[in-house]
Amino acid sequence: MIRLFAPCPKFIPLLAVFIVSCSLPLAISDDTDTDREALLCFKSQISDPKGSLSSWSNTSQNFCNWQGVSCNNTQTQLRVIALNVSSKGLSGSIPPCIGNLSSIASLDLSRNAFLGKIPSELRRLRQISYLNLSINSLEGRIPDELSSCSNLKVLGLSNNSLQGEIPQSLTQCTHLQQVILYNNKLEGSIPTGFGTLPELKTLDLSNNALRGGIPPLLGSSSSFVYVDLGGNQLTGGIPEFLANSSSLQVLRLTQNSLTGEIPPALFNSSTLTTIYLDRLIPDSIGNLAQLTEFHLDGNNFNGSIPSNLGQWRQLEKLDLSHNSFSGSLPSEVFNISSLSQSLDLSHNLFAGPIPLEIGNLINLGSISISNNRLTGEIPSTLGNCVLLEYLHMEGNLLTGSIPQSFMNLKSIKKLDLSRNSLSGKVPELLTLLSSLQKLNLSFNDFEGPIPSNGVFGNASRVILDGNYRLCANDPGYSLPLCSELGSQSKHKSTILKIVIPIAVSVVISLLCLMAVLIKRRKQKPSLQQSSVNMRKISYEDIAKATDEFSPTNLVGLGSFGAVYKGMLPFETNPVAIKVFDLNKYGAPTSFNAECEALRYIRHRNLVKIITLCSTIDPNGYDFKALVFQYMPNGSLEMWLHPEDHGHGKKRFLTLGERISLALDIAYALDYLHNQCVSPLIHCDIKPSNVLLDLEMTAYVSDFGLARFMSANSTAAPGNSTSLADLKGSIGYIAPEYGMGGQISMKGDVYSYGVLLLEILTGKRPTDEKFNDGLSLHDRVDAAFPHRVTEILDPNMLHNDLDGGNSELMQSCVLPLVKVALMCSMASPKDRLGMAQVSTELHSIKQAFLELSSGGKVV
Ligand SMILES: *[C@@H]1O[C@H](CO)[C@@H](O)[C@H](O)[C@H]1NC(C)=O
Ligand SMILES: *[C@@H]1O[C@H](CO)[C@@H](O)[C@H](O)[C@H]1NC(C)=O
Ligand SMILES: *[C@@H]1O[C@H](CO)[C@@H](O)[C@H](O)[C@H]1NC(C)=O
Ligand SMILES: *[C@@H]1O[C@H](CO)[C@@H](O)[C@H](O)[C@H]1NC(C)=O
Ligand SMILES: *[C@@H]1O[C@H](CO)[C@@H](O)[C@H](O)[C@H]1NC(C)=O
Ligand SMILES: *[C@@H]1O[C@H](CO)[C@@H](O)[C@H](O)[C@H]1NC(C)=O
Ligand SMILES: *[C@@H]1O[C@H](CO)[C@@H](O)[C@H](O)[C@H]1NC(C)=O
Ligand SMILES: *[C@@H]1O[C@H](CO)[C@@H](O)[C@H](O)[C@H]1NC(C)=O
Ligand SMILES: *[C@@H]1O[C@H](CO)[C@@H](O)[C@H](O)[C@H]1NC(C)=O
Ligand SMILES: *[C@@H]1O[C@H](CO)[C@@H](O)[C@H](O)[C@H]1NC(C)=O
Ligand SMILES: *[C@@H]1O[C@H](CO)[C@@H](O)[C@H](O)[C@H]1NC(C)=O
Repeated sequence: MIRLFAPCPKFIPLLAVFIVSCSLPLAISDDTDTDREALLCFKSQISDPKGSLSSWSNTSQNFCNWQGVSCNNTQTQLRVIALNVSSKGLSGSIPPCIGNLSSIASLDLSRNAFLGKIPSELRRLRQISYLNLSINSLEGRIPDELSSCSNLKVLGLSNNSLQGEIPQSLTQCTHLQQVILYNNKLEGSIPTGFGTLPELKTLDLSNNALRGGIPPLLGSSSSFVYVDLGGNQLTGGIPEFLANSSSLQVLRLTQNSLTGEIPPALFNSSTLTTIYLDRLIPDSIGNLAQLTEFHLDGNNFNGSIPSNLGQWRQLEKLDLSHNSFSGSLPSEVFNISSLSQSLDLSHNLFAGPIPLEIGNLINLGSISISNNRLTGEIPSTLGNCVLLEYLHMEGNLLTGSIPQSFMNLKSIKKLDLSRNSLSGKVPELLTLLSSLQKLNLSFNDFEGPIPSNGVFGNASRVILDGNYRLCANDPGYSLPLCSELGSQSKHKSTILKIVIPIAVSVVISLLCLMAVLIKRRKQKPSLQQSSVNMRKISYEDIAKATDEFSPTNLVGLGSFGAVYKGMLPFETNPVAIKVFDLNKYGAPTSFNAECEALRYIRHRNLVKIITLCSTIDPNGYDFKALVFQYMPNGSLEMWLHPEDHGHGKKRFLTLGERISLALDIAYALDYLHNQCVSPLIHCDIKPSNVLLDLEMTAYVSDFGLARFMSANSTAAPGNSTSLADLKGSIGYIAPEYGMGGQISMKGDVYSYGVLLLEILTGKRPTDEKFNDGLSLHDRVDAAFPHRVTEILDPNMLHNDLDGGNSELMQSCVLPLVKVALMCSMASPKDRLGMAQVSTELHSIKQAFLELSSGGKVV
């Protein structure tokens, strides 16, 4: 049927258009009408809930004005050459009548909700060069028939649910320039023919389920610019021929199962600017002089990073995160002054201090060295990186305070120093960083009042959890409020608020520096350093000694790991091996704290370390263990509460033994508090941490929570390697610790007092019988002195006191109870010091020995 002479109502408007556009010929053909019909058919078979295609009306003749339709108007026929209905909220299957738009060159149906299969009628679109069906919900296979579209240049089918193999026939479309098929469920292997397509520039097949190797011909095309095959199940090696592509700039092969080395030829490529690789050992990373981005993240690389990385002088972005790189942070990386976008070394096993060279990265916007094993202080050179916006150092073992030079980080938006062992005051300088939007200092050991201006003005921007010695003036923070003393400065002028703290902190910095210098001179080598003097011991030695960590050798379970009994070849006596469970939060810190503590201390009543082991286990995980002399008589806990340890038949401790043990522990604490170079607070005195040898001598053990103090009995900044969050043990922990009070020797005295009460009464401080609200201390205090026999351990009385031995009672028991009560006073200032306790107990023991040698004790 010839539509040239169509009825007037349709024809006239069309004619009008032609007249207006002047240049148009009047020929209206079959094909023109077919296009119109095809468009109306397309509209009628899909759902258009937003009415996006309302202009597509059967009353409107000029379809060239319809939304999304473009016509070719230079020739004798009006034909649809492009249809773009991207992002129009359309759904339903793609109607087969689309195949009647036979002149169409560009079809964009992307970002809709089209369902079902790709219609095979698309084969009739012989002119099509651009086909984009991305971001729909299309299913089924890519139709073989697409290969008839011999002019196809761009094929975009990404973000659908297409299945099956990529048809080999597609490679017959020899003009293909872009093949974008990522985020589908395509299977099978990569068609070999892609490599022979002379114009193919972009091949993105990522995030499918493709298998097999990278086809050999892929590199023979010299046109490739961007190849992404990541996120498939490809196997085999990286073919060298990829390097033959003279234009390849970006190569991404991440998240496959490729093996082998990176072919050296690849590094001779003069065009590659970005490489993403996976599971390949980069021992030969070449001279990629133009590389601007290097992503190696999320792989399993181990060892140290390749040293010639530093020669890549154009590198702007370096991402080595989420690998198992170890060794120290590579200084050469900090020498790449071109790094301007980001440096990500996070989630590796880097250890040791942060090199001062980090301050060379003055162009960088983002640095992450988080979640490694970095130690030492934050270098003040970091303050040179004045363009930094993001600084992530969380999850390391950093100590010391926040350097004053951070004042220069004027662009900083996010600063995360959480999960370290940083200490000292939260510096006022942070209030000067006006760009700062998020400050995370949680799980450190900061102390004192927090500043109130700047970022601190908005409690939601500052995270301070797990710093038990901080206080705030603003009740918006869930911190204890500071005392009146702390809040006086509120009335001072802004200048004073800023100038004084800065001046003070400069003075403090100088003092600290002097202290550090003085201390450096005095410092003994650390335990880990001095371990060269100790017996070297390997993971295998320990595995063998404990019979592969056999449960039969398990003698104790602590908060940070397990204790095994074992025999070592070079020790005649059995040893106790404390294996840290490094997955437990705080365990690495605990190991370090214990090493730090043990490096200074030697005392008759402290458990002796034989050696330590800090290595990697066969699975590549860090392994840390401490080896102590084994204590054959277990812990005081077992002796005081035999019923809880399956030792019902064990004999009870005599009064004499209890006095001796109490004195041993007092000696040990007196030594730690008063006779060490820096006082050491144990922080976890309890019966299970007191071990007994065959002679029933007591040894204080477990320094996992211990921390050093400066002489004026406040925590010495930069010197504390102890746990960020103080734990202690319920019942023994001093009440002031629970209220944010400072760690002090008086805290240990409290624990000791409770322990002594337990030794005397045989009752735990957590005993259920005390749930009337009265503590062990209160109960004993109430009975003291006249009814004291009522609360004493009957097993002890049975052994040592013949009913009413008043002399023993007067000269030993009552003084002991009194010491215990005076140590466990609620207020720290009412408690005795350990020196006085040792003296008192010494004379009690003397009195006891005199009475027993005089035959007055049964
Ligand atoms: C136009 O379409 C409507 C409904 O879609 C129909 O009712 C009407 O008859 C059509 N008119 C012509 C001229 O085809
Ligand atoms: C316009 O369409 C005709 C008919 O399909 C075709 O021959 C011609 O090449 C097209 N012109 C342009 C500029 O696309
Ligand atoms: C289709 O239209 C969208 C805007 O609606 C545009 O972003 C897109 O580039 C167009 N597609 C083509 C092939 O021109
Ligand atoms: C294509 O157009 C012809 C008439 O030109 C028509 O017979 C046929 O049904 C159309 N095909 C589809 C799939 O709509
Ligand atoms: C296809 O369309 C999507 C969404 O409109 C767009 O992001 C993408 O770049 C297009 N693909 C190609 C190859 O042009
Ligand atoms: C594409 O799909 C991926 C997951 O398959 C999804 O994360 C992403 O948001 C999608 N992109 C768009 C633009 O819908
Ligand atoms: C790379 O290209 C060179 C010359 O252009 C050729 O001799 C060599 O065989 C090619 N290598 C591979 C693996 O295709
Ligand atoms: C890389 O290039 C250097 C010199 O440009 C050449 O000596 C070396 O053979 C090349 N290596 C490979 C594997 O092509
Ligand atoms: C790296 O891993 C491989 C295999 O997992 C192992 O053989 C090698 O010893 C490791 N190297 C280092 C330095 O840990
Ligand atoms: C850093 O660069 C300087 C000069 O550019 C060079 O002398 C120095 O050896 C480099 N350091 C490292 C660790 O690569
Ligand atoms: C702050 O740090 C803690 C510990 O690293 C982390 O759990 C938390 O998600 C961080 N909060 C923010 C907002 O970054």
